[in-house]
Amino acid sequence: ISQIMVYFALVFGMILIKRKKKMKLVHTINELRAELEVQRKAGRKIGFVPTMGALHAGHASLVKRAVAENDIVVVSDFVNPTQFNDKNDLLKYPRTLEADCELLQKEGAAYVFAPSVEEIYPEPDTRQFSYAPLDTVMEGKFRPGHFNGVCQVVSKLFMIVEPDKAYFGEKDFQQLAIIREMVKQMRFPLEIVGCPIIREDDGLALSSRNARLSNEQRQQALEISRTLFKSLEYAATHTVAETQKFVEDSIAASEGLELEYFELVDGTTLQKISDWNDTDYAVGCITVFCGEVRLIDNIKYKGL
Ligand code: PAF
Repeated sequence: ISQIMVYFALVFGMILIKRKKKMKLVHTINELRAELEVQRKAGRKIGFVPTMGALHAGHASLVKRAVAENDIVVVSDFVNPTQFNDKNDLLKYPRTLEADCELLQKEGAAYVFAPSVEEIYPEPDTRQFSYAPLDTVMEGKFRPGHFNGVCQVVSKLFMIVEPDKAYFGEKDFQQLAIIREMVKQMRFPLEIVGCPIIREDDGLALSSRNARLSNEQRQQALEISRTLFKSLEYAATHTVAETQKFVEDSIAASEGLELEYFELVDGTTLQKISDWNDTDYAVGCITVFCGEVRLIDNIKYKGL
């Protein structure tokens, strides 16, 4: 019995040491590479969570999963200028590195990589990424250049971190599909893990942009997820076109909201469907302006 107790005390102690280990904040590529080289040589698996900071429970869920599935976890905290097609949006993007570090230390991340813009882009990135037709629809249509910027930064981050697994939220549904395609085409030796949307208790999908909503707008924005959930029931007895109209009418009737697009697509090809039988995996992707704040959400109607 005493041997068993010693064993459990050791295991428990090791868990505590692992959890309490001080997280490192790193600003340069060279420093991060040197740190990760040591970790890799020690045979440790590296999980990576790319973020633009302003972290919330959605990011925390990605980090939790990465901590559970890897030996060490790196989180990047970098507001990537090349993916903003709207300068105002870039200027207004919340920057909260100190609070982010507190959350990440609590969640058990080993490294936070917070580089300067010059560190990532010592000269303009002229690479062009094109994964048509995945990146020409929806966000690709309304935010020209956005996915090119996402691929520029994510490919650089993958080359710097060289993770075994990288974690992305399903809230950015199209981004996840494009990154999967980029990894496949560029043959990055890593696994992409998609993680479910995290919602507030009342249904609002968590987003760093929610911080920009006034109390009144926060209430108005709720109608987005409400509509999507109602449409799920509606879709069970209606056609694709009718479901499309249901969502469009419902957002049009909601005060303070302006629909940019709602598309019912195949979850793999991201191409529009016209019949539920067109696919085994049907997803509805929506973008709505609530005042000046652009919010996205999605819901699965069928499959996977
Ligand atoms: O999803 C995001 O926060 C960003 O697009 C990402 C993947 C961190 C790239 O800047």
